[in-house]
Amino acid sequence: MENFRKIIQHNREWAAAMKAADPDYFEKRAAKQEPQFLYIGCSDSRVPANVVTGTEPGELFVHRNIANVVLPSDLNAMSVLQYAVEVLDVKHVIVTGHYNCGGVKAAMGTASYGLVDLWLQPIRNVVRWNRPELMQIEDEQARFDRVVELNVLEQLYHLSETPIVQNAWAKGKRPLLHGLVYDIHEGLLREIATGVDCQEAADALAQRRQSGVPAGPPPILGRMSTPVLAGDELADQIAQRVMERLSRPGASGGPSK
Ligand code: CO
Repeated sequence: MENFRKIIQHNREWAAAMKAADPDYFEKRAAKQEPQFLYIGCSDSRVPANVVTGTEPGELFVHRNIANVVLPSDLNAMSVLQYAVEVLDVKHVIVTGHYNCGGVKAAMGTASYGLVDLWLQPIRNVVRWNRPELMQIEDEQARFDRVVELNVLEQLYHLSETPIVQNAWAKGKRPLLHGLVYDIHEGLLREIATGVDCQEAADALAQRRQSGVPAGPPPILGRMSTPVLAGDELADQIAQRVMERLSRPGASGGPSK
């Protein structure tokens, strides 16, 4: 209870300090919000969105969940995305992963955690699809870091496939999609993919991720090397089926050609 009281106390002190510096600080923001960014990140307490991006109240529209997963079937995430893109008209959507992510670590292991295992399944797929590359990384921490990066790419691609982003792109070049990874040791955001603003750029991202075929100008920066497709026969077959489905004319929502 004492710790809880501290939160209320700190709130009072913060509000007073902000008002002392600018008497209109809250009033200016009370009428409306005009954020330029939708930030999608992990729920991890060590990666507070406003703090690590140096932004003020009103600047970031935020969605967080375990391991920054973006799924078209997630009513919560899709509602946030739709409101941000279609009503708030954000210019940028940023998926931010972080090294030492507990959700990613759980997805890489074999232990069972109950309900959250279902949530983490998309990350298990990322691990499976990229197994040949991951197996070449001997250092355990480096392999963990790499899955964190690949997961951001995967979620970025999910984002590009949503009708919300597809429709927005069809009307113009917004929003720009960006993938970042927060380095929990340094406090720095690293750019994994920057400025994905059209179907071609999203396709290039997917091709790099799925087949290792270099395509177009690199949308990928930072510590990325070229991702490769999993060599396992089953994984190959599944990937093949997905690619075929996406290449069919009129395939729903998928930008892949
Ligand atoms: Co995390």
